[in-house]
This record gives sequence, C-alpha cells and structure tokens, in this order.
Amino acid sequence: MTMQLARFDTDTAKDETLTFQQTARTRRSFRGFLDKAVPDELIREVLKDAQCAPSNCNTQPWDVHIVRGQKLKELSQRLHEKNDAGEFTSDFSFDMGAFYGPYGERKNAQGKAYYEAMNVMRGDKEGRQRAAALNLSFFNAPQAVFLFMPVFGDSVRTAGDIGMYGQTFLLSLASRGLGGIPQTSLGFHAGTIREALGISDDLKMLFGISFGYPDEHAPGNRMHMDRVSLSDSVTFHS
Ligand SMILES: Cc1cc2nc3c(=O)[nH]c(=O)nc-3n(C[C@H](O)[C@H](O)[C@H](O)COP(=O)(O)O)c2cc1C
Repeated sequence: MTMQLARFDTDTAKDETLTFQQTARTRRSFRGFLDKAVPDELIREVLKDAQCAPSNCNTQPWDVHIVRGQKLKELSQRLHEKNDAGEFTSDFSFDMGAFYGPYGERKNAQGKAYYEAMNVMRGDKEGRQRAAALNLSFFNAPQAVFLFMPVFGDSVRTAGDIGMYGQTFLLSLASRGLGGIPQTSLGFHAGTIREALGISDDLKMLFGISFGYPDEHAPGNRMHMDRVSLSDSVTFHS
C-alpha cells in the first residue's frame, strides 16, 4: 500500500508545502515513525503555523511543550510503569461506553481496524494491551508535543481552542511531509507528564501529539479510516 505523503527535503520543507486541499484531504493519523529527528528549525515553522489557530476572545490558552531525546525516552518508561501499575492521572473524564448508536459503531470500527493492522486476533487480550501500549512509546516518534491549558469554568470552550491548535499543528505537519497522531491515551497520564516536565498543577492536559517522519512500513500505518458522506453530517438550510 502506498502512503500519500508529501516528500520534501528537510532543508526545504520549511518553505514548500502542499496546497490546502491536498493537506486537508491527505492528512491522516500515523502510528509508526522513522528513527529520524525533525530538525528544530522545522518544528518551529510548524509551531508558528499552529500559533495562528483561532481561540475564544483570542485568549490563546495553549501552553505547549515539545519533548524529544533522552527526556522522551525517560517519559515513555515512566508512562509504561504507571500504565502497568494501573495508575492513571487524567485531568478529564473519558467514557468509551458513552458513544451511542453510530458513534459507538464508528469507535468500534476504528478499534477493529487498528488491531487488524497490528495482526492482533479478536479475543487476544494481551495482544490488544501490547498494541494499545504503543501509545506510551509515542509509536516510536522521536518527538512529541503536549498541549496544556489553564482552567476556565467547565473547560469546554478552552478544550475547543486546544482542538483548533492541535488540528492546525497536524495540518502543518501534513503539508510539510511530516505526520502526527493526537493521543487522548497520553492525557490519561496528565499528572505524570506534568510532574516529569515540571509543569504547574494549574495547567491541564487533554491530549498530546506524537509526530515525525512516518514509517511507511510500520504495521500501525496500514489502516486508513474513511468518513461518512456529507449528507450524514450536514444539513443545508435556507
Ligand atoms: C483528540 C484526539 C485524540 C485521539 N487519541 C488517540 C489515541 O489515544 N490513540 C490513537 O491511536 N488514536 C487517537 N486518535 C486518532 C483517531 O483514532 C483518528 O483521528 C481517527 O480514527 C480518524 O483517523 P485519521 O486521523 O487517520 O483520519 C485521536 C484523535 C483525536 C482527534
């Protein structure tokens, strides 16, 4: 299977990007990355793009932490330890059982596609746990970004702003031939990540994004999630 990826030299990727339509329509989540660090200069360009995201009253409530190298390895080890011990420090609730009707079906289809891509048989509980735990190894990405945010009221609007930032970050990656994956799984360990990075308890985390150069041969990248048709999501009124 060939992946639709922009291929740019890392030196020129700063300036050469896909068109918006190519970017929006080819972006996808990657679950396997090459052992090749993204140069800081290029990360900064992506960050400059993401910084243009809109936010409620222009509050720009994102507090962004890029982690790589030894720090990321140590963090991964810590997250695996916590996961194995069943210790979770999520800032926000997440109930997978709450997805009803078609949403539940889409959630199940996504899980099935991932475990099939990973060659994990139905009923193989340990295999599933191993495949899910790859989230905590950042799917081998040499860098990850953690999006922290202050708390205002019920956090719903701030969470929307963080989503805007996250998607702008992801689209910027895609437009430059890079890839990423937003991960609520990392949010389940928000407290551990906060402690490891010395971040104030006042800041909360919804999700992180592992990113880098996608590995075309990684099993986790074999899946491709489709979308329902426009008519299932959109109503025109006049
Ligand atoms: C906020 C957010 C959190 C996500 N968390 C995870 C995660 O923890 N692990 C994972 O493998 N995928 C995660 N995903 C990726 C989704 O499964 C993916 O976006 C969806 O299946 C659509 O596929 P696509 O991104 O390839 O188009 C997350 C996506 C979003 C937007």
